[in-house]
Amino acid sequence: MNTKILTPTDENIWLAAQTLREGGLVGMPTETVYGLGGDALNEEAIRAIFAAKARPADNPLIIHVPSIQAAEGLCEISDVSRRLMCAFCPGPLTLLMPKKPIIPAVANAGLDSVAIRIPSHPVALQLLEMSGVPVAAPSANTSGKPSPTTAMHVYHDLYGKLPIILDGGACQVGLESTVLDMTAEVPTVLRPGGITPELLLTVLPEVRVSDSVLRPLKEGEKALSPGMRYRHYAPSGQLTLVKGEQSNVEHLCKKMYQDTVNVGRSARILAFEEHLPAYEGQSVLSIGSLSRPETIAHKLFAVLRQIDDEKIDILTCEILPAEGIGLAIMNRLSRAAAFHVIDADAIVGFVDTRR
Ligand code: TXA
Ligand code: MG
Repeated sequence: MNTKILTPTDENIWLAAQTLREGGLVGMPTETVYGLGGDALNEEAIRAIFAAKARPADNPLIIHVPSIQAAEGLCEISDVSRRLMCAFCPGPLTLLMPKKPIIPAVANAGLDSVAIRIPSHPVALQLLEMSGVPVAAPSANTSGKPSPTTAMHVYHDLYGKLPIILDGGACQVGLESTVLDMTAEVPTVLRPGGITPELLLTVLPEVRVSDSVLRPLKEGEKALSPGMRYRHYAPSGQLTLVKGEQSNVEHLCKKMYQDTVNVGRSARILAFEEHLPAYEGQSVLSIGSLSRPETIAHKLFAVLRQIDDEKIDILTCEILPAEGIGLAIMNRLSRAAAFHVIDADAIVGFVDTRR
């Protein structure tokens, strides 16, 4: 199959909508990441999504609709869920709600809940409106790769597996939506994203954040959100996160860089915009501005793809507080680093006292 990247004119969006109605797959831009869309009520289309991504069948899909009204046909919406949807949808929020029987088991891994999202990207909304079908769409990457934030990322991962990718530009948020379990006793964030716990608390009296968000699953532990089980976002080189006092972080990143280069291997430091001057002379890549963390979210997956393509052996990366959008950034970075974090204060202190 030939894959075409199309500019999102009315005509091309109509063509994509027609493809969805006929059971075909479409690469669609959203404000979070690109999705691989198919008709959520068409079992053949759902199976094609799983096959194209090489995605395990027990990892349920998010179903995209253009409005609360369209969601009503698919799930039971409580008053609290409705309040959240009124406040944050369209936007980067996915709610897990009790499903209605119309949802085919292949789409949500046979669970009692279904994940529903109303994306805010104008092209996504127009596509959903024009198609008239609910659209199941996981991120349009090969399973395990960073999610795609440009049409070219989708093309790179899925060429030949879908006929159309609508090019809606670089995704504004850059990280996947917040997944909030509304079937839990207290609404629980299973995957942090653009709608932060702080924002949710402006509508809800109480929010929990699943403690597995910033740590690996324990042996035999059941993942609340099946997607969190899989190795994600990992580049081919070894990525280490470095925490601690800034001067110690810089000292350790530089030392690891130099030690690696000295033995003939490739290294790269990932640092915040504000700290770049400290690494002069080393191979350093900006991951965005610490004072505007939304810029980090916006480019993180593109950076992870770049360092993967470049096959750098050893990577060190600065970290930021897990607050606000920082929680979602640290969730993705921790997984990319396979939870490998070094405390520069402990190590640099250790080196100094021995001198
Ligand atoms: O921003 C996004 O959410 C993007 C765009 C395309 O909308 N989509 C996306 O889908 O990230 P995906 O399939 O890559 O991630 C969906 C996550 C997975 O971790 C999955 O396990 C979880 O949501 N999920 C979906 N339905 C669920 C359910 N019923 N119960 C628990 N977790 C669920
Ligand atoms: Mg995904």
